[in-house]
Amino acid sequence: MLSKVLGRRIVSITKGGEVFIERELKYGTHNYHPLPVVLEKGQGVHVWDVAGKKYFDFLAAYSAVNQGHCHPKITQALVEQSQKLALTSRAFHNNLLGDTEELLCKTFGYDKVLMMNAGTEAVEAAVKISRRWGYEVKGIPPNQAKTVFCSSNFWGRSIAACASSDDPERYKNFGPFGGMNFQIIPYDDLDALEPALSSKNTAAFIFEPIQGEAGVVVPQAGYLKKVRELCSKYNVLMVADEIQTGIGRTGKMLACDWEGVRPDIITLGKSLSGGMMPISAVLGDNEVMDVLIPGSHGSTFGGNPLACKVTQAALEVVKEENLIENAEKVGEFFRKEMKKQVGQFISEVRGRGLMNAFVIRSGQGAWDLCVKMAKNGLLAKPTHENIIRFTPPLIITKEQMKEALEIIKKSVIEVQNE
Ligand SMILES: Cc1ncc(COP(=O)(O)O)c(C=O)c1O
Repeated sequence: MLSKVLGRRIVSITKGGEVFIERELKYGTHNYHPLPVVLEKGQGVHVWDVAGKKYFDFLAAYSAVNQGHCHPKITQALVEQSQKLALTSRAFHNNLLGDTEELLCKTFGYDKVLMMNAGTEAVEAAVKISRRWGYEVKGIPPNQAKTVFCSSNFWGRSIAACASSDDPERYKNFGPFGGMNFQIIPYDDLDALEPALSSKNTAAFIFEPIQGEAGVVVPQAGYLKKVRELCSKYNVLMVADEIQTGIGRTGKMLACDWEGVRPDIITLGKSLSGGMMPISAVLGDNEVMDVLIPGSHGSTFGGNPLACKVTQAALEVVKEENLIENAEKVGEFFRKEMKKQVGQFISEVRGRGLMNAFVIRSGQGAWDLCVKMAKNGLLAKPTHENIIRFTPPLIITKEQMKEALEIIKKSVIEVQNE
């Protein structure tokens, strides 16, 4: 019956995985198209499926597991704190929130932080904060604030995220979106940026310093600097969504550090918890963040004691294990090796640190290659028909990377020969 519903036979790479996949398809909504592997265990850069097959994890839960799967220090923080106090809500103070907020502010160099849960919530909050700043500080007339986004942006699938997207997969039949006053301009296009920012009701420019979901799109050198310059010139908040690029992923703490640029607001998420639970944050200075007053924003779970302890441990691991330096070094090695593969099949290798992708020349085949790599012991995911993103945990060693590269190269040869 299921096969009929789906119109296809279920084929699992994991031995005996069909039963798990069928159950998901029967009882869960079909809003994802996962690779047909069924995982049950993770440690460091590896995951194992229910049949005991071991894989390199080169997705790392869309960069949420920078510290590696089940990092002992983060796991310990989670277990210990969950036995003591997990959730108070923000109706009361707790003994960990202030410390964690201080750590976040000092680590990233801002006055204040708002802790939330999913990354989408953080960007959503950034939209709200920047609009309110627009009215109360910049002096934009009521309900006229404009927010500028980029083409191919991705920050989730809330109604505001859908409204700011130019991808029909995200917004089709979820409207109406009227009245949001969102403008979408081409990414990495300075000619389009200036007119959008110079309009007097623009409150914020929200963008990814490297677009992840779009296929690891790295803007031209100098783009971030120019964004900063134009935002300052027109008194528009520069909001960098560092949810995927942040916390060492690109070989710097923040991707904006590559051009020595300090945004007015940053959003963080994903590896802020080392993949243990959804934890996100919005950081900015007092002039901006103080627009939030009691009742204007909140979340039952945001800033809970468990999240605080996990955040502290996750950030300590990044520092103690030199993950930022490792990301830069091993990422460089990955690109150098993969660039040797550019030719008939692969047209481009791009990225920064351990946020990389390659493009398949023919314009398709990414799915087939991902299936092949999975069979050979490495998990990665297409971002488009012809682009595969490679974002392993930042703890990966050069030796492990060499092993992984062999799997990738072998898989490329095998799909070409099929
Ligand atoms: C740049 C960026 N922002 C926001 C999000 C949304 O984060 P979440 O899925 O935790 O809501 C993502 C998710 O992939 C992302 O890549």
